[in-house]
Amino acid sequence: MAWKTLDDMDLDGKRVLTRVDINVPVEDGKVTDTTRIDRICATIQDILARGGKPVLLAHFGRPKGERRDDMSLQMLIPAMEQVLGVEVVFAADCVGPVAQAVIDTLGENQVALLENTRFHKGEEKNDPELAAQMAELGDVYCNDAFSAAHRAHASTEGIAHLLPSCAGRLMQGELQALESALSTPERPVLAVVGGAKVSTKLDLLSNLVEKVDMLVIGGGMANTFLAAQGIDVGKSLCEHDMTETAKAIAEKAVETGCELLLPRDVVVAREFKEGADSEVVKAEDCPADAMILDAGPDSVAHIKQAIDRAKTLIWNGPLGAFEIAPFDAATNAAARHAAARSEVGQLVSVAGGGDTVAALNKAGVASDFSYISTAGGAFLEWMEGKTLPGVAALDQREEEKTED
Ligand code: 3PG
Ligand code: MG
Repeated sequence: MAWKTLDDMDLDGKRVLTRVDINVPVEDGKVTDTTRIDRICATIQDILARGGKPVLLAHFGRPKGERRDDMSLQMLIPAMEQVLGVEVVFAADCVGPVAQAVIDTLGENQVALLENTRFHKGEEKNDPELAAQMAELGDVYCNDAFSAAHRAHASTEGIAHLLPSCAGRLMQGELQALESALSTPERPVLAVVGGAKVSTKLDLLSNLVEKVDMLVIGGGMANTFLAAQGIDVGKSLCEHDMTETAKAIAEKAVETGCELLLPRDVVVAREFKEGADSEVVKAEDCPADAMILDAGPDSVAHIKQAIDRAKTLIWNGPLGAFEIAPFDAATNAAARHAAARSEVGQLVSVAGGGDTVAALNKAGVASDFSYISTAGGAFLEWMEGKTLPGVAALDQREEEKTED
């Protein structure tokens, strides 16, 4: 990887245009989870400590080029000031004289926050003109938004070609964790992939069977794999039109020597609701009027054994309907086991994806995993083996850029 880090840059007295992802959950104008803000702290502190002026570029929501009060980044300021411990000065536009004026008067220990980049239509189009206007506001570009790096937008991609660029601390940490989990891992590598639909994770599964030694398939998509083996899954969530695809993935796994772990027993219920009556049956014995909502204890034991054999674990997606008890049991048990192995240094565990992190937090083990990614879509695309434009744009020779 030819990307630079903050260590390679001279920041003293420089305006450091820093792309962050502070697309955080907000309810009634208040931030309900500050994780993404917490995780950009190191970068901002580092820039300040080295005499740089952090100027933050960020998006929020999907305003599609329109200015919308309910998507203004201004509402994040109280949470940001609290987490960062410095004053955040807001500019009502991310380009032009309004932004310029704020940056020109930025004092020591202050951070400039520029308004939602997606209020400009050119952002998502990666408009070179908008990227150039952004680039005028800084001397150095630092991308710390790994979780938005799957977007080729003006503030994540275009601008990186116009200024001396580097990865921020969070971006650096994410890339290092993911590389150590999948590009140069300690083997055996185990991947746990759950979630509702095979159709949304096709590329992921195809890539993983080539790269990992063991693959656990859980959640609703396991039902599609069971159905592909001719098993009647009753009323379970199942993409019957994807059974041929599931079969092809299973065949590819045999070819590549990737051990596929499907549920051996399952928890079934007649209703999809909290505390619904449930029973454990063999995977092939799902009653016609019932649905599979979680992996059973035998499956969990099987997964735990795989975790014990693995040196590296990469996890995306819950194993069951984790939002409603008791169908969170398999996810919780497997997550706790992985956390315990990680804590004693037997396992490198990396997890990512919105639902996944919510499930691990619910199980109370997120902090014991070796690395928790802040990314949803970007984590998936990276695991699918795709190039992330925001990362690729950092990976270029310095001569291409104008430095003055
Ligand atoms: C996210 O929350 O996944 C990132 O901020 C990217 O947002 P997007 O999916 O709207 O591009
Ligand atoms: Mg997203």
